[in-house]
Order: sequence, then structure tokens, then C-alpha cells
Amino acid sequence: MKRLLLPIIMLAAFSCGNPTRVASPDGSVAIEFSLGENGEPRYAVSFDGKAVIEPSSLGFQAADSSLNLSSGFHLVRSRTSRFSEDWTQPWGENKQIRDRHNELEVRLANECASLVLRFRAFDDGIGLRYEYSVPGADTLVICDELTRFRMASDADTWSIPANFDSYEQEYRTLRLSALDNANTPMTFRTDDGIYGSIHEAALVDFPEMTLRVSDSLTMLAALAPDGPQNLELKAVVPGTFKTPWRTLQLGRKAVDLINSSLILNLNEPCAIADVSWIKPAKYVGVWWGMHLGLNSWGKDHRHGATTESARRYIDFAAANNVDAVLFEGWNDGWTLGWAHHDFDFTRPAPDFDLDAVLAYAREKGVDYIIHHETAGEVAWYEAQLERDLDFAAERGIHALKTGYAGWLLDGHYHHSQYGVRHYAKVAAEAAARQMMVDAHEPIKETGLRRTYPNFMTREGARGMEWNAWSRGNQPSHHEILPFTRLLSGPMDYTPGIFDIEYRSIAGNPDVQVWNNVHSSQCRVNTTLAKQIALWVVLYSPLQMAADLIENYDGHLAFQFFRDFNPDCDASEALQGEIGEYVAIVRRAGDEFFYGAVTNEDARSLEQPLAFLRPGVNYTATIYADGPGADWVSNPYSYEIRQLTLTSADTLSLSLAAGGGVAISFIPE
Ligand code: NOJ
Ligand code: CA
Repeated sequence: MKRLLLPIIMLAAFSCGNPTRVASPDGSVAIEFSLGENGEPRYAVSFDGKAVIEPSSLGFQAADSSLNLSSGFHLVRSRTSRFSEDWTQPWGENKQIRDRHNELEVRLANECASLVLRFRAFDDGIGLRYEYSVPGADTLVICDELTRFRMASDADTWSIPANFDSYEQEYRTLRLSALDNANTPMTFRTDDGIYGSIHEAALVDFPEMTLRVSDSLTMLAALAPDGPQNLELKAVVPGTFKTPWRTLQLGRKAVDLINSSLILNLNEPCAIADVSWIKPAKYVGVWWGMHLGLNSWGKDHRHGATTESARRYIDFAAANNVDAVLFEGWNDGWTLGWAHHDFDFTRPAPDFDLDAVLAYAREKGVDYIIHHETAGEVAWYEAQLERDLDFAAERGIHALKTGYAGWLLDGHYHHSQYGVRHYAKVAAEAAARQMMVDAHEPIKETGLRRTYPNFMTREGARGMEWNAWSRGNQPSHHEILPFTRLLSGPMDYTPGIFDIEYRSIAGNPDVQVWNNVHSSQCRVNTTLAKQIALWVVLYSPLQMAADLIENYDGHLAFQFFRDFNPDCDASEALQGEIGEYVAIVRRAGDEFFYGAVTNEDARSLEQPLAFLRPGVNYTATIYADGPGADWVSNPYSYEIRQLTLTSADTLSLSLAAGGGVAISFIPE
């Protein structure tokens, strides 16, 4: 976690001739470029001297078949260069980032186009990007990407299915040879023991990349189409265009993938001049009650966001060191069945006095997160976006949660170029008004938070809500997420349900079916200690304690969230195996917060505390699974212990089946 930072950028050419190979600074990762018999560009990747990607073809296909973007190329020239930079971000798992890589730039030309292929070799993986120039073309229609990832060996893989409209899918653990398609990040462990993850970086004005497995060990890039009515159209680009980076993170241990900054390093520097207003926060809100079916967003006696409930949540936040509050259903236009939307983000619901709530929150020193559920009606939302954001900004609101629930955005896939443009537009308009964004039903993160650090967090996987109205997220979901979805960036999972079996609402006649399944048929597949640990493990700079506040009132274990600081300076994944367990520590100032979670298997962990500062005594408060704890039969058993510990100590930790442990370390 501690790094020596040199505040300089060094960029130096070091090639002679026309090189076709580049290795990372420590030599472990190497990329080899070649041209096939028909002038098709190809690349291969090795790690520690072992092949990971066998020579694999590169290119794109334009709708105009006379435009050849994938073969007939000859080498114009190539060169390599070294790059070294240390940069900082206003928040993040790590505020200080080190970028050391070597680049191979290959200039090619054929009868239609010139193409620069830019390969970057980092010690923890690679990035490759295409820069095309098609003379005489104002715009091009792209109908396919031809990038292949021809794996050198079979592998275990962890991924969700490729789906252009939703990432809220269950993870599968499959052999690569048995995989059909996948969304990214697609994580694997090869039979040679190499860990890797394929994803993309800097996804700007382009559709997302998914993967299709063509034969058992070869994955093809498959771009999200525009929509079900326009499956051939993938992207419309100018005659000169750059693609997002295609990325491959590599590691010797599973946790190396989490500790990598490769995706951020492949994004553009911050575009916001003054970032002083961008601040991580903890929040609570009127939210879980709706998913449980206890409250409604709409207009009935179950309406959750009333002036009165808002005051209670603000009081709770002020009394419990919670920074912000969210009230879904604050605005007018919700109907009970979501059959028709007439949302208005400038008109509060009749029983929600927004100005009074804001004044009360201000008086109590609590921030307000405004909610815009668009139901995917993006054109409608964009038409009044500036007015709606002005409305919030004028009232001193600095945080926005958006939602795009339902299928399609005006007939386009959520992950199409249309969607990508929209999410970026909201982030930019919000930044112009000093507003942070938390998007649900988003496009996946590709490191754009480096450029727009106001785009704090997003959903983009099955979050807590699924536990209220489905068979729920299985225990191993939380040991897969950090090695897959969270490699792309923070997630607004909204952990922290203490009433695991919804006992506090059992038999309450107000509880109605929401989203097909009655919450009395559901539960959270967890122990209580695991819910606490997830506040650390599932990183989000806007971190929610998602339960009804009544379930926290007087609960001793809520002290962890009170103490927790979401504004961490540095993070380290300490140990773990994908789908089995993971332990992560985050430092915020002088304090450390540790979380470890396990799948359905109980396990013991030996945890050296070498991450603590040497010579400092810490009060460690340990929130652990209690006697007999087990996610199925005894989820509530927990215990809290306090010890004085130093960096020389090693803790022996016991995690129950489906359990976890959270520890705060406060210097004495
Ligand atoms: C889906 C979001 O993920 C959830 O957080 C929100 O409560 C609903 N949409 C309503 O906006
Ligand atoms: Ca959702």
C-alpha cells in the first residue's frame, strides 16, 4: 500500500528499427505484433514466459464492405517508448496511482485506411487500442469488431452472460471450453495457474464489448448492437476515430487482479478543474422498504418518502455519523404499478415538502442525494436534463442517483453507443453543476472515473435489491464480484441488511408483492458479520447502510458503520480465491478498515497485520461470526471483541459458512 511516488512523467523512445515486440518494465508481460499472410494484424501475449494469448487477429468490419479495416495492411513504421507517471485522484480505492508501462506503436496502411495499433505492456497486463483514419469518409458505420483472444490453454472462468441490456445476471463458473459468451470483466485462471481478466478501458462514444466464444478456446469481441430493431448497427464513428482500449489484466495470485490499476491508467486525466467538492459519503435512505414491498414509491398510505419519514432519516444520519440521505419516491409522477410514468424531477410528491426537508438536512449537517428514476426514457430525460439538474443544484444538492429500470432506452440497448453517450452526458452535465452521480442500470465502468471523478459509483450487477424479490444472491456472489465486476470500478451494491430474514415486517399487512415475489419468501443469504464486512469488501465511495433504520437503532454492530470512513486513501486485497473468499483492507487517514468474506464454506484465515503502521498500537474492534453462526440456520449470531494490536501481530479468524469478519483499527 505504501509507494514511493515520483511526481514526474517520463516518456522516452527506446526503439531502433521497426520493433514488433514490447515487454513490460519488469519483463514479465510481453506483447508480440505480427502481420498474417494477407496483411491481417495480429498480437500475442505472454506472462512470465508462458503464452497466454496465441497469435490472434485484430480489426473491424465496416457496413460498407468495400472498406477493408482488417487485412491487406503493410507496416509503415513502428516504435517503442517508455512511460512513467505518478498521479493522484480525489478519491479512490487508492488516491495515488503509479503508471509504468512500455508502449509499442505500430503504423499500418492498406488501400482504404491507415491504422495505428497502440499496445501497452504493464507489469500487470496489457491494453491495446485502434486508431483508424479513413481518408474521405466523414462517418463510418461499424458492424463488427474482429478482435480475438485465442487463449493458449483452457481455464476456469467467472462471468455473467453477454447481455446488451442488463448486467443484473447471476455469475457462472465455467470452463472456458464450455463457455458460449460472456460480459466483461471476464475473469479466468488458466490451467497454467495464471489469473487474468478481459475488459475494456475508456469506453467513450462506442458500444460496449462483450465476448463470444467461437471455438472452445477463442473469444471474439462482440459489440453491443444499437437495439433489437437494429442488430447490424454497432457504432457510427467519424472517419478518424479511436476505439476504447481492450484490456487483459494478469496476475500470479487472484488478488493481483484487484490490486491492479491498469484500467485507470488507460483512461484520460481528470477533466474537472476543481474537484474539491467531490467527496465520498456514507448514506441511508428510504429505499429498502420499497423493495421489501412494505412501502411504495407512489401515492398510497404506504408512500415511503414523506416529510415525516425524511426527518426521521435525517435525525438518524446526524446521530450516527452518516453523511447523506436518499429518498426514492420524493418526486411526483410515480404510479403504483409503474404502468405509466409521468415523472417530474422539479415537483415533489404532495406529502414530501422538499424545501422543508432540505432545510432540516442542512440544519443537521446532512447531505441530500436526489433521485431521478427515468425508467429508461432517455430522450425524454435529456430534453429536460439541464432544467432538472439546475433545480437540484440551486437547492444545494451535490449528489444524484439515476435509474434506468426496465428493458431498453427508447428502443436502444442500455449498453449500446446510444446508452454510452447518454451516461457520459449526464456525468458531464452533473459535473458542470458540481454534482456527483450514482447510476443504476448503468453502462459498465471502464475507468472513466479518472476523467470524471464525479461519476462516483454505479450498480451494474445484481445488488442487494435482488434479495428482496428473488431467490437472492447466492453466498459466493460476493466472493466473485471483487474479482469480476469490481475490477471495473466501484459498485453501489448497498450492503448492510441486519434483519436478514425480514422478521421486523413479518405478518405486516402493508407488505405487498413487488417485482413478482413476496418478500416473505425471500431473505439475504448471509450472516450478519458478512453484511458488515461487505461495507469494506464491496468498494463504493458512496456507501449505503441499506436496511430500515429501525433495524440499526440500538444495534451494537452498527458501530462499525458509524466508525467507517468511506474516503479511503489506499486499499489492498490481502488474500483470496475467486468465488471462495477474499480479504481486503482500506486505509483512511490513520485508520484501517478490514473486511473478509467467505462463500457457503466456513473457513479459518491467518491474517498477518503487516499492513498496519509499524510501532503504532491500534484498538482493533472485531465484528465476527458468533458461536454456531451459519448463513442458513443461524445468521444472526455475531460477537464483538476489542484488542490492542500492532503490525507485528497475526490474527486467526474464523468465518462461518456464508459469513465474514470486519475489523476497525483505530490508533490508540
Ligand atoms: C432499480 C434500482 O436499482 C433501485 O435501486 C431503485 O430503487 C429502483 N430501480 C427504482 O428506481
Ligand atoms: Ca437495479
